[in-house]
Amino acid sequence: MQKKRAVITAVDHYVPDKVLSNFDLEKIVDTTDEWIRTRTGIRERRILEHGATSDMAAEAARRVLANRGLTANDIDVIIVATVTPDMFFPSTSCLVQDKIGAKNAWGFDLSGACSGFLYALITGAQFIESGMHTRVLVIGADKMSTITDYADRNNCILFGDAAAAVLLEPSENMSEGILDSILRSDGSGGKYLYMKGGGSLNPPTHETVDKGWHYLYQDGKSVFKVAVIGMADVSAEIMKRNNLTGKDIDWLVPHQANLRIIDATAERMELDKSRVMINIDKYGNTTAATVPLCLSEWWKAGKLKKGQTIVLATFGAGYTWGSALVKWSAEDAKV
Ligand code: COA
Repeated sequence: MQKKRAVITAVDHYVPDKVLSNFDLEKIVDTTDEWIRTRTGIRERRILEHGATSDMAAEAARRVLANRGLTANDIDVIIVATVTPDMFFPSTSCLVQDKIGAKNAWGFDLSGACSGFLYALITGAQFIESGMHTRVLVIGADKMSTITDYADRNNCILFGDAAAAVLLEPSENMSEGILDSILRSDGSGGKYLYMKGGGSLNPPTHETVDKGWHYLYQDGKSVFKVAVIGMADVSAEIMKRNNLTGKDIDWLVPHQANLRIIDATAERMELDKSRVMINIDKYGNTTAATVPLCLSEWWKAGKLKKGQTIVLATFGAGYTWGSALVKWSAEDAKV
């Protein structure tokens, strides 16, 4: 059988209209715009007021299909990376499948937190490379506002809501598409970033709700220390094993959790800041959506072009982290 490469042929995103700025947060918790900006790089984030994760995911999916000139019936698989599914079951993927009318698709949700999109992208690529499927929608979508405690200044400043998606298709050109990846996990880090209640360990009760266990908990300092090393390590490693230097990389596409983590990764890669996709200032940390949201914005602006070499890098709860080397294949956007 002819070997195939999985290539990204289309991208798009959906962000809600409502903006929650640092100044808005100053009125809710004891914080300042200055503190948030200097510690994280965030100025504002988006909040979905009505609807659920599947609504944002479905809209991102529809836009991807429109960009590629396809209908929902053309899709074989839908993978939704999320930690904020509409419900435990059915999967958000099934809800999206119904909302967009993808009658020929099967799919599933993938729980990889801030590395969820990267995990889903590499998983989706396997269906293409094996020849099992020809069109896989990979969506990163999170409505973080539903698991954020807006009385907790340590965390409520960090997160926002968004969805973004890419389409994977096969190519016989082995020098484009998803060229390499490094995926890692370390469950011993689970205790530093988690949602304690609501699952089979601590099913929801009045007590779990009173204790706020239905909200995200993070020991930010501990996560920061590991994230800053983990994301830089896998980015440097994927460059080294592909004999690349900073000059060979057109864009670093990092998970947007903290500007200082992004800067440290770019520095390890010896990459100029002008070649790093950064939109954390506008959206905060949208968990599974950050990486495809960057890809979409840069593609739409005409800055991400066909043939460019990019490195995706993520770190998140689990711990989960990883990197991917990608030769961008979508036709250039009409700017
Ligand atoms: N406004 C003002 N002060 C705040 C604050 C806020 N929103 N949040 C915390 N503080 C205070 C703390 O209470 C602390 O005060 P203290 O020294 O009197 O106890 C002080 O600011 C410093 O807090 P600290 O936790 O040391 O800040 P930090 O520089 O580590 O930044 C994070 C905090 C959360 C921004 C940072 O740790 C981080 O980004 N962590 C990683 C997040 C991440 O990468 N997640 C990855 C996967 S999603």
